[in-house]
Amino acid sequence: MLGDVMLPGIKLFKKGKVRNVYDLGNELLLIATDRISCFDVILSDSIPDKGRILTGISIFWFSYLSDIVKNHLISSDIMSLPSSLSEYGEYLKGRFMITKKCRVIPFECVVRGYISGSGWKEYKQNGRICGIKLPADLKESDKLSEPIFTPATKASVGHDENVSFQTMKESLGVEVSTKVKDLSIALYTKAADLARSKGIIIADTKFEFGFCDNQLLLIDEVLTPDSSRFWPKEDYAPGRPQASFDKQFVRDYLETLDWAKTPPAPRLPREIIEKTQDKYKKAYKIITGKDFI
Ligand SMILES: Nc1ncnc2c1ncn2[C@@H]1O[C@H](COP(=O)(O)OP(=O)(O)OP(=O)(O)O)[C@@H](O)[C@H]1O
Ligand SMILES: [Mg+2]
Repeated sequence: MLGDVMLPGIKLFKKGKVRNVYDLGNELLLIATDRISCFDVILSDSIPDKGRILTGISIFWFSYLSDIVKNHLISSDIMSLPSSLSEYGEYLKGRFMITKKCRVIPFECVVRGYISGSGWKEYKQNGRICGIKLPADLKESDKLSEPIFTPATKASVGHDENVSFQTMKESLGVEVSTKVKDLSIALYTKAADLARSKGIIIADTKFEFGFCDNQLLLIDEVLTPDSSRFWPKEDYAPGRPQASFDKQFVRDYLETLDWAKTPPAPRLPREIIEKTQDKYKKAYKIITGKDFI
């Protein structure tokens, strides 16, 4: 499958659910495949060009947000690839980033401007998200009075788990925790303002940070439909789940099946694959202002 090319003669650093990360010595080669994971299970079908579309969106945001925090991106220019990979140029074009190799902070830095997903589930149970008490009368998808920071652990096996900021501070120390919290909220706020002006609500998102040479950097992918909830502003109405630009569409299809959400995943009909690809392309166009080609 094209989404699953493994590069020979180059050391694998990590095979994630969606990305293959290679070790180039001091640097990493991050390759976004076309794989899609739902409920933490990698599906057997991929979404053509998904890796390129999401890499393009990340690169746009890295540049737009670079005044807030420096990031791991070194180059996405095909000329920067090691010459041993030249025969893979066609596959790699647009879907790779050469990045600084970082010591990853083992928390997902989630920011929520709206209440949805696992946050909504938690709120319904106890009126809180990650220990943050919220007003009593919120409806699903409501806008919060201000964005909140709701970290989650990066589980190496199984699902990530929402934790309180207190838990994060106990693990990382007050200084680093406060820094990544403030940065996450500033990044979300700047990006959400831009997206809103273009007709997309960024309901929530997840950032990752790491250290390289003692410098704190924004790493991984940024503000893509895989790491965020993007809602079309024109259809927004609280009190229900929202239409979205992300894989919610695939999740909704999978929910109609009798599937226990454990591997192997069911195959996706062609129509679902095509519609999902269209949604990713539309998000790319709205955010970057360019057609995806
Ligand atoms: N600059 C970097 N230095 C080191 N690791 C990085 C860097 N940028 C991203 N990563 C890591 O590369 C991996 C990307 O792969 P992917 O997102 O597909 O993994 P995943 O299955 O989601 O796993 P995870 O739960 O760890 O994110 C992530 O583990 C991410 O933390
Ligand atoms: Mg990831």
